[in-house]
Amino acid sequence: MQKLIVQGGTRLRGEINLQGAKNSALPIMAASYLCGSKCVLHNCPKLTDIYAASRILNYLGCKCSFAENTVQIMPTESDCSSISEELMQEMRSSIIFLGALLGRHKKCTVSYPGGCKLGPRPIDMHLSAFRKMGVDINENFGKVICNVKKSVHGARISLTFPSVGATENIMLCAVLADGETIINNAAREPEIQDLAQFLRCCGAKIKGDGESRIVIEGVKALSGCEYTIMSDRIACATYLSAIAGAGGEAIIHKACANCIEPFVSLLDQTGCSIYTLDEGIYVRSGMRMKAIESCIRTMPHPGFPTDAQAVLMAALTKSDGTSVFEENIFDCRYRHTDALIKMGADIKVLGKTAVVQGVDRLYGAKVEATDLRGGAAMVIAGLMAEGTTEVTKICYIDRGYENIEVYLQKLGADIRRE
Ligand code: EPU
Repeated sequence: MQKLIVQGGTRLRGEINLQGAKNSALPIMAASYLCGSKCVLHNCPKLTDIYAASRILNYLGCKCSFAENTVQIMPTESDCSSISEELMQEMRSSIIFLGALLGRHKKCTVSYPGGCKLGPRPIDMHLSAFRKMGVDINENFGKVICNVKKSVHGARISLTFPSVGATENIMLCAVLADGETIINNAAREPEIQDLAQFLRCCGAKIKGDGESRIVIEGVKALSGCEYTIMSDRIACATYLSAIAGAGGEAIIHKACANCIEPFVSLLDQTGCSIYTLDEGIYVRSGMRMKAIESCIRTMPHPGFPTDAQAVLMAALTKSDGTSVFEENIFDCRYRHTDALIKMGADIKVLGKTAVVQGVDRLYGAKVEATDLRGGAAMVIAGLMAEGTTEVTKICYIDRGYENIEVYLQKLGADIRRE
């Protein structure tokens, strides 16, 4: 089993090019299943979740090939319309293939998706939207069995919460459906806009992405296209947190400050200097951060992203004062705190609130990644700690960070994979 060994105490300095966004690449790969000709995706990050998506595409008969950060997806003639439980379990995003399958077939079967354990992650909103679009769905022993009597048709759908996955799934189903689909209370994350932009390049008719009301007019067919996936705003927040926590200065190229505005504005309050460049972000951090006075509440975009909660918390463990987090998206997204406490952090968790009292020192320890972002938080704490930290179960980290140790080495960190 692989682990990351981090020797703390080095200030970070250097320049990195941000990886492509996992949470854009995954739905875009699923969307390519709808296209009648080849798709070429550039800036695709090399991640285990991306390889899992390519295995699903191959299973469905497409041919995926990788060359560095470009993936080519050749369309399939196969009428395979189910995905094995084993493949579905590999990641949460496997569920996005349901919308794509419904775009092409009158019946399909999938099972419930896997993914990081962040608390209950139901798919009720996805399924109720598909039902509105004319899909008959039976849930049986963990399987989701779908049949379409006449055709998948457009519908007016009001989401009870702006779910990212449900919005993407409905978009994938609606682009080839008969008539118009309106999604009210849609998710507004930048990755939704990236998916919509890709689909438009393939010939889809979509308006309103990035806003709460998305309107999709179904078309008869989509063709493949060549597309560059946006940069990963959460990886950006992670490396910014590492630099803020460990101290130092760096330029993150290809970063979009607007996409993580709520994160950047909080980091600004900690005393870090942040400047937006043409295509990147410069950050400089002194010896000690200030705590953040206002409560850090995770919210759907454009609020503070839940995916950046753990990494910012790690950076704040050694700040001056007390910071308070409120996690509003997932029920169980503080699992990293035990490891941070083991390393000397002072964190009290009560329900959805975590209170972080800054300490003078963190100490290296043996810790186990609990999930993707929680694992990254442990690496950051390791960079800030005295002594050596060993992070195991890094398969979680590899789901979302392209060689995290190589990026951090470029910033001068003492970290290696064993
Ligand atoms: N929810 C429901 N019913 C549904 C769908 C969602 O109750 O049918 C609830 C979830 O249980 C959760 C909340 O709604 O409490 C938000 O879930 P959402 O559907 O928005 O999240 P997701 O699509 O499963 C994506 C990202 C996550 C990110 C969330 C929130 C991908 C592949 N995953 O998940 O990313 O945390 O949106 O922004 O896009 C990560 O990258 O580490 C990660 C977990």
